[in-house]
Amino acid sequence: MRDEAEIRGQIFELVRELQNSRKKDAFKAGESSVPYAGRVYDHEDVNHLIDASLDFWLTAGRYARQFESEFSEFVGAKHTLLTNSGSSANLLALSALTSPKLGDRRLRPGDEVLTVASGFPTTVNPILQNNLVPVFVDVDLKTYNVNVNQMRAAIGPKTRAIMLAHTLGNPFNIEAVMELVNEHELWLVEDCCDALGALYKRQHVGTFGHLATASFYPAHHMTMGEGGAVFCSDKRLARIVESFRDWGRDCWCPPGQDNSCGKRFDWQIGDLPRGYDHKYIYSHIGYNLKATDMQAAIGVAQMKKLPGFIADRRANFKRLYLGLSEYQDALILPEATEHSNPSWFGFPITIRDKAPFSRAEIVGHLEKSKIATRMLFGGNLLRQPLYKDREYRVVGDLKNSDRIMTDMFWIGVYPGLTEEMVSFILSQFRQFFDGLALR
Ligand SMILES: Cc1ncc(COP(=O)(O)O)c(C=O)c1O
Repeated sequence: MRDEAEIRGQIFELVRELQNSRKKDAFKAGESSVPYAGRVYDHEDVNHLIDASLDFWLTAGRYARQFESEFSEFVGAKHTLLTNSGSSANLLALSALTSPKLGDRRLRPGDEVLTVASGFPTTVNPILQNNLVPVFVDVDLKTYNVNVNQMRAAIGPKTRAIMLAHTLGNPFNIEAVMELVNEHELWLVEDCCDALGALYKRQHVGTFGHLATASFYPAHHMTMGEGGAVFCSDKRLARIVESFRDWGRDCWCPPGQDNSCGKRFDWQIGDLPRGYDHKYIYSHIGYNLKATDMQAAIGVAQMKKLPGFIADRRANFKRLYLGLSEYQDALILPEATEHSNPSWFGFPITIRDKAPFSRAEIVGHLEKSKIATRMLFGGNLLRQPLYKDREYRVVGDLKNSDRIMTDMFWIGVYPGLTEEMVSFILSQFRQFFDGLALR
């Protein structure tokens, strides 16, 4: 009889064969699509998924532990908590700051959290979900990140925290934001969902603030299908996040384990009877936002490829930048924040006021050539229906956020883009600008 290792080995070999037999269609300019993002994987990723499936552990297990440890090492944080999405990670990070375990420093309903108006809604939604008040300021064009002077002006007596994304992989001005954090004793949550691998003064984003988040949705720097993480270096915060993630329970045993605390039946908390099973003691209004071991297993395989993915993103960005530089009279090209090395999620472009064409025209031209374009998510979020009649404060006129909503778009830099595709993108810009000259 073959033993389990041998059988698994044969399955993995077959999967490799299958995966390698799937031929990629040759790129046909104008016919094949040029995506803005997508999964990049091979037989190793599929085999990891199958390995976890054969274990049939289903919930978080050995791969989740491995992933959390390797991810922590990669970004330089002490703790990583795997979640089922980046949005869940944002919800957990901010909810953790409301924990009674933080005493006077906890966020309370009505406290203000500074953020920007332009970006992705689930960076902001956790603020409202926790009955806190978002305070919106504008962003700078070129970096698409927070205007720190406006943020400074926005600080009021109720301001307790800052929650910001590193936009499209470009770090915000961390030094200036940290000055505000330290001066006013604020919490800082860094949303790194679009910025995995980005560096500020050679240090990974997400390791400056109190808590940080990542997303592993297929469009992002690496994927598990659905997935996300909260990471931090403060053990107390990590334990609070874990509690919110795992039903709000006080116990921190991993799935399938008992008595990690060594006194499972010996706790005396609040009005509970002495010795009530710690597994069923709840200290937070929590959720179940855990990921499965199948997701984590894919993550472990993707982590190995991550440095290469990030390098490819930077190289594609550079090629696009060089190729598009000649159109700077009409296009505002992106700018890396000072002291940073971005891990670009996309290549943002804003149409200059004086340009003789609209965003719709250039986006229409690219899309017609099957080159995918994207908006900066919700644009000026305050114009979106979801925040109507919500309590918030706005500082300034959000002029650039509005501009982003009407004149900005971005194209992909993801590792799945081949040299041929990048050349095709540039050729389509050329065609568009040549066409303008004939008008
Ligand atoms: C800045 C930012 N934060 C959070 C998220 C949410 O991540 P997820 O799709 O994993 O929920 C996204 C999604 O793309 C995002 O762009």
